[in-house]
Amino acid sequence: MSSIAHQTVVITGAGSGLGRAMAHAFSKQGWSVAVADINIEAGEQVATEIKAVKGEAFFQHCDVRKETDLQQLRDRCLNQWEGIGVLINNAGVVSSMGSTELTPMSEWERLLDINLLGVVRGCAAFTPAFKAQQGGHIVNIASIAGIISLDKFANYNASKAAVIALSETLRIELGKKNIGVTVVCPSLFKTNLPDSMVNPREGQHEKVSQAMARSSISADDIARKVVNAVRKNQFYLLPHRHTWLVWWLKRSSVWLYERIISRWPIS
Ligand SMILES: NC(=O)c1ccc[n+]([C@@H]2O[C@H](COP(=O)([O-])OP(=O)(O)OC[C@H]3O[C@@H](n4cnc5c(N)ncnc54)[C@H](O)[C@@H]3O)[C@@H](O)[C@H]2O)c1
Repeated sequence: MSSIAHQTVVITGAGSGLGRAMAHAFSKQGWSVAVADINIEAGEQVATEIKAVKGEAFFQHCDVRKETDLQQLRDRCLNQWEGIGVLINNAGVVSSMGSTELTPMSEWERLLDINLLGVVRGCAAFTPAFKAQQGGHIVNIASIAGIISLDKFANYNASKAAVIALSETLRIELGKKNIGVTVVCPSLFKTNLPDSMVNPREGQHEKVSQAMARSSISADDIARKVVNAVRKNQFYLLPHRHTWLVWWLKRSSVWLYERIISRWPIS
């Protein structure tokens, strides 16, 4: 079990989508929230919304591509609070769909810098604080794309698979120190994520947005599941039920798995 002594949570990318939903979900349970985002207007808005309903929150500008931004975020949390309960590495972007050989190297670098190294920087900045207070919890937002490799999303799939591998490693490394880890692997759900595509080809933004709009669960539903997973120190969280089945199929019948994946909504 992780030991969470403080009801305080830091969330990167909390200005929109799942980050915003988790900020509200934790606040509703009485937690204080550090809303961190590269987008100042959106992040300030979320902190204001929480304070308007008598919750406790502050906004801190943070670009997860910058190590110093994450260190400053940690220092502000330590100054403002008695301790840090949970870090959620949520900030992420998606690539435009494209075949692997035609995806520019700059797009690989952008995806890995934000989706993977952003999480690494968050873990590296906050782990010493968790060790010093002898407890805490890290939540890394990966994706089902890290388990089920969707056609034409090689860089996104690879960035999220690496977040799962990183989380599995941390679970072993930090478990002995009373620090819990949860890795969240959602399938599609409706957020502003398609806006982070760079130079999408005609119709791509709409295709991904429409697939997201068909999701059976919302960012708010997933946020509530994250709160529960932290409470229970649950490691893998796959919020969409059908994805457990596909994960199991991948291990037991590659042939059937590939047939299903080739018909996935955005393939
Ligand atoms: N929406 C989905 O279908 C889906 C599915 C699986 C996983 N995810 C993951 O969920 C996480 C949240 O995404 P979302 O769907 O809520 O998207 P979103 O675009 O609505 O929110 C992402 C937030 O991250 C912020 N951000 C982007 N780059 C940043 C940076 N360099 N530093 C700090 N903040 C930055 C954005 O400003 C935005 O507020 C991402 O890691 C995403 O990969 C989303």
